[in-house]
Amino acid sequence: MRLTVHPGAPLSGRVRPPGDKSITHRAFLLGLLSEGVTVVENPNPGADCGATLACAARLGAACETFAPAAAGSATRASSAPAGSRGAAATVGARVEIRGCAGVLTEPDGVLECGNSGTTLRILAGALAAQPFLAVLSGDASLNRRPVARVIEPLRRMGATLSARDGDRLPPLVIRGGRLRGIRYELPVPSAQVASSVLLAALGADGETEITLPAPARDHTERMLRAFGVNVESTARNGAGPHLRLSGPARPHGTRVSVPGDFSAAAFFLAAAAATPGASVTALGVSLNPTRVGLLDALERMGARVERRTLPAAGEEPVGDVTVTGPARLRGVDLPAEWVPRMIDEIPAWAIAAATAEGRSRLSGAQELRVKESDRLALLAANLTSLGITVREQPDGLEIEGGTITGGTVVTGGDHRIAMAFAVLGTRASGAIAIDDASSIPTSYPGFAEALAALGGRIDTAGEGSAANGRRGASAARGGRAPARRHAS
Ligand code: S3P
Repeated sequence: MRLTVHPGAPLSGRVRPPGDKSITHRAFLLGLLSEGVTVVENPNPGADCGATLACAARLGAACETFAPAAAGSATRASSAPAGSRGAAATVGARVEIRGCAGVLTEPDGVLECGNSGTTLRILAGALAAQPFLAVLSGDASLNRRPVARVIEPLRRMGATLSARDGDRLPPLVIRGGRLRGIRYELPVPSAQVASSVLLAALGADGETEITLPAPARDHTERMLRAFGVNVESTARNGAGPHLRLSGPARPHGTRVSVPGDFSAAAFFLAAAAATPGASVTALGVSLNPTRVGLLDALERMGARVERRTLPAAGEEPVGDVTVTGPARLRGVDLPAEWVPRMIDEIPAWAIAAATAEGRSRLSGAQELRVKESDRLALLAANLTSLGITVREQPDGLEIEGGTITGGTVVTGGDHRIAMAFAVLGTRASGAIAIDDASSIPTSYPGFAEALAALGGRIDTAGEGSAANGRRGASAARGGRAPARRHAS
């Protein structure tokens, strides 16, 4: 599906993004391992979390998903229909999971993780203590992403794992077994790897200790506590935390209220920062300090950022954020230590940097080469094709801000590349066409409607049929009612 965004008035208004993707994955997986029922409110409805839910169902959890308004309407994800084995489950506005109390069912086929690295890597940890064979695989993009980073610690704990290409790439094969706690120093500040080891530690004998080289998202630690499992986390000056969990430990089902996804809102916030006169408010998003490095970056570039903290419904800080674009954004040298706190927001940051006055520099971001695409390469190539001077480095980018022309963007099937360049289309000098926007619903179904509701002029037909935001919204929604200004 092609998506074209035309230049127009500065984005303005309020947006309520979908539930946080990282938190939703964890709620589904802890729900699977728990004793009793877990209720997940406002889960992320994208295909990535659908893949996690489908895997949880294949492994024995009874999952029901409830649609938003129709009271009492529920669909079961516990048994996939014939012919769609392993297909992503539909995630509704509420999901209820009756867990397996630590004893999962051996799957009779491959566990399909789709495009989702978080599903594959964290699920590997959940399976490491299970005495059966499981095969985890994904789409072409996921099957090019590294898995040695989870194989190494899980093997040291006692599980048997192997993978394609000398244990580097999925499919990943696990035969779980009796585990022992380990001390593990992560070579990369990866929350997925730390989470994988923490879920394995639930089924291990003795203490597991993990140190991270830099702070990374800490949703698993927070959520384990909500599920009744004690995880000690000690901050270390200038480095990531030291975590400690004593196994075996059994999580107990609970209610998880998922805040809005800051990473989804980030595209609109970055576009607002990049456009004089624009102002966008993201409502009810997670303000977890390990996630919102982008706000510090935009502030340092001259944007006005206002945060209003709301009463938290659970372990995660939540609030509204307004970003207002200055007359001209300034280029910035991003400190390398900020990167883990904005790892998924670099595409959004890069489009803001492309519009700023002067040079911006990103370093210490080599992990971006092994995301859903090689994001450094795609950001450099696409910005260059839109008239911006970019120097690609092994671990970063140098971007000279300038005038963005119209053109066609190649996304490589990466949802965050697609959304970043879609919002850039609102303030380019010509239309920006996204070659393939079909990846966007992996994390943000409803993105095009939200962009249109903020005033974006979009069409999905291809060539220049959108006259204004409302018509664009209609086109993006296949002709249904126009979007409201207050996107939700
Ligand atoms: C995630 C962690 C990050 C991030 C990914 C989601 C998570 O990956 O890029 O989109 O939910 O734990 P890494 O752990 O590989 O940095």
